[in-house]
Amino acid sequence: VDPRGATGRLLAHYDAHARPLPWRSPPGSPPPHPYLVWLSEVMLQQTTVASVEPRFHRFVARWPTLQSLAEAPEEQIFAEWAGLGYYARARNLIACARQVAERGGFPTHEAELRKLPGLGAYTAAAIAAIAFGRRAVVIDTNVARVIARLHALDRPLAALGPDIRRLADSLTPDDRPGDFAQAMMDLGATLCRPRSPGCAACPLSADCRAFARGEPQRFPAPAPK
Ligand code: ADE
Repeated sequence: VDPRGATGRLLAHYDAHARPLPWRSPPGSPPPHPYLVWLSEVMLQQTTVASVEPRFHRFVARWPTLQSLAEAPEEQIFAEWAGLGYYARARNLIACARQVAERGGFPTHEAELRKLPGLGAYTAAAIAAIAFGRRAVVIDTNVARVIARLHALDRPLAALGPDIRRLADSLTPDDRPGDFAQAMMDLGATLCRPRSPGCAACPLSADCRAFARGEPQRFPAPAPK
């Protein structure tokens, strides 16, 4: 990573300001166990970081390993999942835990992860990058907003999919792809917010075309009604 480039500036900022979330290890240190990465990312598919934190702690205290979850009675898992979103997610969680326990651990490549129950493009890429250090392009709505602003893309996000993917790909480093992905998510959640972005503290303001235009909150365009 060129420390003078946008990706280098973002990672340096993450080293100093990463949110200490319970499913993370500190920036630059070995990644958390894939079970914890998978569980947190599945929980975060439908629920905010603030609501997931206490539920994650309870879940992991009760089932500290993938094996223990794979062997747990379904009714107990459904009960523990209550309030975390659709029943289908819990069903996929159980099916995934059993498949992965059966095969002796998570696959480490995005394409193989994508085949597991409940893992879509975002989740497979996030686990590959965060748990296994694989270069993968991780895009959620926060990341997409950051990219749209960096490049002053002023169409609605729904129209920008391929452009966002290409631009996110070009920013993603070969080393520290997991830290990079989480740095982009943190930036979108804490500074590059939909309204009133905190550009004064942003490590990417010098790189940001929306900031240069003076009204960063106008990018991307709102979804049409
Ligand atoms: N949202 C989904 N996954 C996340 C992660 N790993 N860090 C922060 N926010 C997230």
